[in-house]
Parts: sequence; structure tokens; C-alpha cells
Amino acid sequence: MKNKITIAIDGYAACGKSTLAKDLAKALGYTFIDSGAMYRAVALYCLENHLIDTNGVVNLEQLEKSIGSLQIEISSDQKVFLNQKDISEAIRTPRVAGIVSKIAAIKLVRQKLVEQQQALGKAGGIVMDGRDIGSVVFPNAELKLFVTASDAIRTQRRLAELRSKGEQQSEADVLDNLKSRDLQDSTRAESPLIQVADALVLDTSNLNREEQLAWALLEVQKIIEQQ
Ligand code: CDP
Repeated sequence: MKNKITIAIDGYAACGKSTLAKDLAKALGYTFIDSGAMYRAVALYCLENHLIDTNGVVNLEQLEKSIGSLQIEISSDQKVFLNQKDISEAIRTPRVAGIVSKIAAIKLVRQKLVEQQQALGKAGGIVMDGRDIGSVVFPNAELKLFVTASDAIRTQRRLAELRSKGEQQSEADVLDNLKSRDLQDSTRAESPLIQVADALVLDTSNLNREEQLAWALLEVQKIIEQQ
């Protein structure tokens, strides 16, 4: 087996990034890290500790004081822990989705999480998905993917995911959240979501899970053979 590579996957909300990243990691025996889960964990922390008010104003002073002591861990079975508490379900609620992009735009939050993400990927053999993985976290990743899907497909996928967890949200509200996060994520000053020049684009609108995985595995194979 040749060297394990680093795979960076970026894209808009609910485009299938995490599913692809998870499947790729499983097929290759690599580690999968959902960096969005880490931003969602900080967002949940802010909600639970009243660091964001009803107008969306964040108490930066307080956040700065506490961020150093926040412990965010992701287990190999993809459970997410915040200071040892399992928050895997709690970070997927519409409430968290409603504020996460605001929290993710804060420089000190990004600094802390990017540092942790880079440490997790130091040894290679990692698939990480997010918004700034190919641009900021792993700019030297051997494979960079930029995943897209139509608005209608993204909305249906996220609705199905929420319903399977017992969350009731209208189609219009789900689409609104996806679009508003896309806008915030791609227009923020700190490491906005961009499609880097060396990323391969994968439109998953008309692909099922197996098809998108097969496409990506071929790309991995090409890179490993060239090494
Ligand atoms: O799964 P979904 O596409 O809904 O989003 P996510 O990957 O869970 O990410 C949630 C939010 O975290 C995004 O909308 C971004 O605001 C932020 N995020 C980020 O800024 N940088 C990353 N590397 C990953 C997520």
C-alpha cells in the first residue's frame, strides 16, 4: 500500500459532502472528520451558555474566555462530544443550524478549530469535509473535491434527515436555512467557502451514494498510482 493521502471535501450546505467523506474513509480505511460538527458544537455551547442573544448578538468577550477550555472530540463511530458530553443529536437541530454560520464566521472560533483539525490530519490518511478544508485547513491535500447539488435535491435530503430524527420543519424553512448559510459562509471575511482552482467538481444531484463513491474512488486511485 502506497502512502495514505489527504482528501479535502468542500461545498455548500447539505450537498452530500459528509456522506461521501464517510463512505470514502470507510472504503480506504482512513479517518473521517466532519469539521461542520465541530462548528455546530461551538454553536450549541453558545446557545446553552447564553452567549448569543435573541437578536443574534454574540458575547465575544465571554466566548473568548471560554473557548480555550472547550473540548470537542469526535469518536471513531462519529459521536460528537463537547466537554465529555455526547451532543451528536443536539448539534443537528434547526436551532443550531440557525446560528452556526454566525458562530463559524468568528475568527477566534476558526483559529481554534482549524488548529485542532490540522493536528488530526497531520499523519495523512484523512478525509475531512467542510467549507475551508481545501483552501485553509489542508491546502496541500493530494485530492480536493468541491461537491454541489441542486437546491431541490439538497432540500429534500436535509428534510429526510431531519424527519428521520423526529424534527418537523417545513420545506420552505429548510431551504431558507440552507440558502442563508450558503450566503453567510461564502461572503464572510474569515476563510469564506470558495471553490479552489485545484478542486475537482462533483455534482451529486443525479448520483446515488454508490455512484458518487465509485467516482471519487477512481480519482483517489489515479492519485495513488501517480505517487
Ligand atoms: O452538513 P451541512 O452542510 O448542513 O453543514 P455542516 O458541514 O454541518 O456545517 C455547518 C456550518 O458550519 C456551515 O454552514 C458553516 O457555517 C460552518 N462550517 C465552516 O465554517 N467551516 C467548515 N470547515 C465546516 C463548517
